[in-house]
Amino acid sequence: MSVAEEKKLAAEKAVELIKPGMVVGLGTGSTVHFVLLKIAELISKQTLNGILCIPTSVDTETKARELKLPLTTLDENPLIDITIDGADEVSMEENERSVKINLIKGGGGALLREKIVAQASEQFVIIIDNAKVSKLLFEKWALPVEVIKFAVRTETEYLISLGGKPVLRKDTNGRNYITDEGNYILDTTFLPGKNLYELDILLNKRAGIVEHGLFLDMANSVITNTKVITSHINIL
Ligand code: A5P
Repeated sequence: MSVAEEKKLAAEKAVELIKPGMVVGLGTGSTVHFVLLKIAELISKQTLNGILCIPTSVDTETKARELKLPLTTLDENPLIDITIDGADEVSMEENERSVKINLIKGGGGALLREKIVAQASEQFVIIIDNAKVSKLLFEKWALPVEVIKFAVRTETEYLISLGGKPVLRKDTNGRNYITDEGNYILDTTFLPGKNLYELDILLNKRAGIVEHGLFLDMANSVITNTKVITSHINIL
């Protein structure tokens, strides 16, 4: 099975969780694109009525408008029933009571709006192809750190002081990549095994760092083409 087929199956399984009348957060990326297509199909068949969607990026908003999905805003609907989003790297640590789901997001540059929408959501569902799963985060992906332009040099030095190797993201024309909110991104490599919770706190306390792509204990479930992993295992 191709990676695209894995993404499509995961996306379509996640769309089954959307019920008529729900407010739905739409993530960003190629996996989420399959979500948009499926929602459009269900709306055209009139089997998914009355939903309202909140996109997490200009890219997703453009695609959603093309597909004529009903859109709303966080101002109009500050509470979201379900958000479906992709991820760049996922680690899942299981114990007898729960599964700890941690993510790196922001490969598409939308991490700030994605985290805002995720935090406003009752259910936050992640859809991925199997290659995204790692034993430890940072095995496969650098951490996107969104910084305001004014602070780029000082936050670069700060990330180095934390053991990171930051690289300023460029767009396809070789210019500095600018996020939807007008900031830069420092893609920062860390060694796998780094204490994620400590790093989260250290990044959150810097004024020049607007947000970063570590999403710790935020996802309720991870869906792949073959599995649904929920963060809380019900013990009967
Ligand atoms: C966007 O900023 C990211 O957080 C995406 O969710 C992530 O990059 C997944 O993208 P793909 O579905 O294209 O792999």
